[in-house]
Amino acid sequence: MKPQVVVVGSFMQDLRWNCATFPAAGETVIGTFATGQGGKGSNQAIAAGRAGAATLFIGAVGCDTFAADARAFYKAEKINAHFIEKSGHATGTAAILVNDSGQNQIVVALGANARLVKADLDPKLFAGARVVVTQLESSLAAATTALKTARAVGATAVLNPAPMRADFNPALLKHVDILIPNETEFAALVNLLPATGRKGFTETALARLSDADIHALARAFGPPVVIVTLGKRGCLVSQKSKYTFIPSHKVKAVDTTGAGDAFVGGFSSGLVKFNGDLIKAARFGTAVAALSVTKPGAAPAMPRQREIEAFLKKTT
Ligand code: RIB
Repeated sequence: MKPQVVVVGSFMQDLRWNCATFPAAGETVIGTFATGQGGKGSNQAIAAGRAGAATLFIGAVGCDTFAADARAFYKAEKINAHFIEKSGHATGTAAILVNDSGQNQIVVALGANARLVKADLDPKLFAGARVVVTQLESSLAAATTALKTARAVGATAVLNPAPMRADFNPALLKHVDILIPNETEFAALVNLLPATGRKGFTETALARLSDADIHALARAFGPPVVIVTLGKRGCLVSQKSKYTFIPSHKVKAVDTTGAGDAFVGGFSSGLVKFNGDLIKAARFGTAVAALSVTKPGAAPAMPRQREIEAFLKKTT
């Protein structure tokens, strides 16, 4: 089956330490260790695939054990992956601390992800796609190619600008149909884009804004649709002439790592499932994100279609 959702982006091996509280600078704390599959791009692909869309992940890895495990993971999941092997470069890794409240702190070493280039993204891989998703955790060249190719094949081009980076060029936004920033990325974009008329904008300032004010700022970003994810509050879908706030579900969070990825993957899968209906897709993504935080880890915590449907039946 041809992929309905194509995700171009990062694969990381997540190395996770759970601790009661985060160590302060210079402090050592005792915790527990676990490892699993991660990377924003790959997490989004696993979320989309498990949620029911025929999905293809495209990303770069090294020639090492982590890459072999990644291939085995995708095979077991029955989700298609096109891994480009970058000899001389390690598979990306993420050091993740998770505290007792389920919050996380992450450092990533991009490794092979940073070497993903235009020539790796054969347009044939995108044929028939309805949604193409990318982020900023591999190379910016790859993200640009993915978005341009999306438009060329008639797919919806989705950008999750994560993590926001110093070399981000706002010109990329003209290739985006749907932009999905979280609070940090939203604040960074407000400061970066002159059309917003704001400087020194912070997440604290964002928390004080009304939905109408968030919508007004999002309209200055450029893309026709901007979905601002607002953590445990929910998300705001900003379209040209209207906005819709979608509240999140109340769940007990054990690990919030990959919650944003769960939303992006679930939303993309929802776009296919609900034939382009943005609001239904965002509600679906919100449920996928809520379920993902109830389990430890990133990709392994992504819920499957049956679980999502049962959850939605119970909660709506
Ligand atoms: O968004 C969560 C992801 O960020 C983790 O899986 C980690 O790999 C980092 O890329």
